[in-house]
Amino acid sequence: MENNNLIQLENIKKIYKVGETQVNALKGVSSAIKGGDFVAIMGPSGSGKSTLMNIIGCLDRPTEGKYLLEGEEVSTLDKNKLARIRNKKIGFVFQTFNLLARTTALENTELPLMYSNVPRKKTRDLAYKALSLVGLEGRELHRTNQLSGGEQQRAAIARALVNNPSLILADEPTGNLDTKTGKEIIDIFKKLNEGKHITVILVTHEQEIAQIAHRRIHLRDGQIIKEEHA
Ligand SMILES: Nc1ncnc2c1ncn2[C@@H]1O[C@H](COP(=O)(O)OP(=O)(O)O)[C@@H](O)[C@H]1O
Ligand SMILES: [Mg+2]
Repeated sequence: MENNNLIQLENIKKIYKVGETQVNALKGVSSAIKGGDFVAIMGPSGSGKSTLMNIIGCLDRPTEGKYLLEGEEVSTLDKNKLARIRNKKIGFVFQTFNLLARTTALENTELPLMYSNVPRKKTRDLAYKALSLVGLEGRELHRTNQLSGGEQQRAAIARALVNNPSLILADEPTGNLDTKTGKEIIDIFKKLNEGKHITVILVTHEQEIAQIAHRRIHLRDGQIIKEEHA
């Protein structure tokens, strides 16, 4: 791994073309994140946080610039190769949970493994384990609509975890939760970071939540304006 960096971003630019107009969502972002780090990305709405998360998560490619993930340049890979890297290395958690309706916590958690060669029984075992890790034992067979918001986000974290990723990306994971439930969710990320050495990058508006991270990156108008450590 180059310089021990899990993630290395060099002058990343992202331009969205909408009809005749261009949106410069990222205007040259450079940063490096080490394996095992816990980073919060902060900044006002529209500052490019989700765009950056999508590029880091291999959901999208930069218009310009270089992105190395575990030393491998991924900025130029095609969609299939990106998807393969994503399935192997990265777990996502979103503000709106993004669980499938009318399916159980267990089925939602097994989903990412359906695209792998993991045998059926192993899939089930791994899903139960991930659900237990996020505190959902006994709730595995509850359907999405039978779970509270906090429980749904726990199930989403279990789904993100089941592939044993080295990186978890969470885009405003507490945005739809009350303060107390949000703190419980953040504690899960902290536990995964400290106990399992999973690198965590999370977007948040809340200062109190960002304080838990080792590092805070502040974005504004598509650029990093400030970085703080612990
Ligand atoms: N798919 C898209 N097409 C066009 N413009 C987009 C798209 N996604 C984001 N943008 C624009 O890019 C800028 C950054 O958006 P985003 O990364 O979502 O910011 P944040 O997550 O910080 O609110 C905004 O001006 C937004 O309107
Ligand atoms: Mg966003």
